[in-house]
Amino acid sequence: MDCCEDLVRYLSFGMILMALGYLIHHRKAQTSYGRHMGISHPERMVPAAVAWFLQEMPALMIALLLLLTSHRPSSMGRNLLLGTFCVHYFQRTFVYALLTRGKPFPLGVMVAAGFFCSLNGSLQGHYLLHCAHFDEDWSADCRYIIGLLMFYAGMAINIHSDYILRNLREPGEVIYKIPKGGLFEYVSGANYLGEIVEWFGYAVATWSLPALSFALFSLSFIGPRAYYHHRFYKEKFKDYPKLRKALIPFIF
Ligand SMILES: NC(=O)c1ccc[n+]([C@@H]2O[C@H](COP(=O)([O-])OP(=O)(O)OC[C@H]3O[C@@H](n4cnc5c(N)ncnc54)[C@H](OP(=O)(O)O)[C@@H]3O)[C@@H](O)[C@H]2O)c1
Repeated sequence: MDCCEDLVRYLSFGMILMALGYLIHHRKAQTSYGRHMGISHPERMVPAAVAWFLQEMPALMIALLLLLTSHRPSSMGRNLLLGTFCVHYFQRTFVYALLTRGKPFPLGVMVAAGFFCSLNGSLQGHYLLHCAHFDEDWSADCRYIIGLLMFYAGMAINIHSDYILRNLREPGEVIYKIPKGGLFEYVSGANYLGEIVEWFGYAVATWSLPALSFALFSLSFIGPRAYYHHRFYKEKFKDYPKLRKALIPFIF
């Protein structure tokens, strides 16, 4: 398949605009799921495990489908797609989703997230398989090495932090407790910090506009969410650790 260069550019810039639009539109209130859901939510709800499974799966499935149906994909592009994007979405779909102890999820949010994941899986898959040109010695390039180190370090922080959060609750419980351990000693949004580092690492390793757009989108979606989580903890728990920041240790 040929590279649809214009489409890739439009979708990438579209994602950056979406990120900016999201930041402006949601500067006072966060997407309504989890603790940021209003008390009365007339919307249809879906069990958290089902919602996370269904909304994240398209990113993985579409990327794999593109990979299987590509005749002569770039081999570095294929390895990067499999070793980063697909690994992340495999974990999110088949591990995170199935273990979650979160509250039921609004159907509308699930559908919107599923749409975003489908679009993003198509964009990242198509770009890496059909558009990206990597030098022969890209695997020795410091951008590739540093990017992958960032990606896997971020992923480890994200998975470990989500594990800590999940284990704060007994099965069936829906209350919030103060997270302890790992990077939660420094920030309230340790899982978000890991995810942001992960996608900026992916952008560095692939040195591409679509990956940068996705990293910026993630930053604009979960960066403010970390701030609102932090505010929630400080209001709810009088003994919340004073030195803990929202997203960036010692700074913010
Ligand atoms: N790349 C992106 O743009 C993007 C966007 C969204 C999410 N994500 C990733 O998806 C994952 C989940 O995101 P999220 O927004 O649901 O994260 P979250 O608000 O931190 O919640 C994660 C899970 O832990 C539970 N939890 C959180 N804090 C808790 C506490 N203090 N006590 C007890 N349970 C607690 C939540 O339950 P409740 O659901 O009941 O609150 C939920 O099941 C994260 O790894 C995040 O990085 C990525």
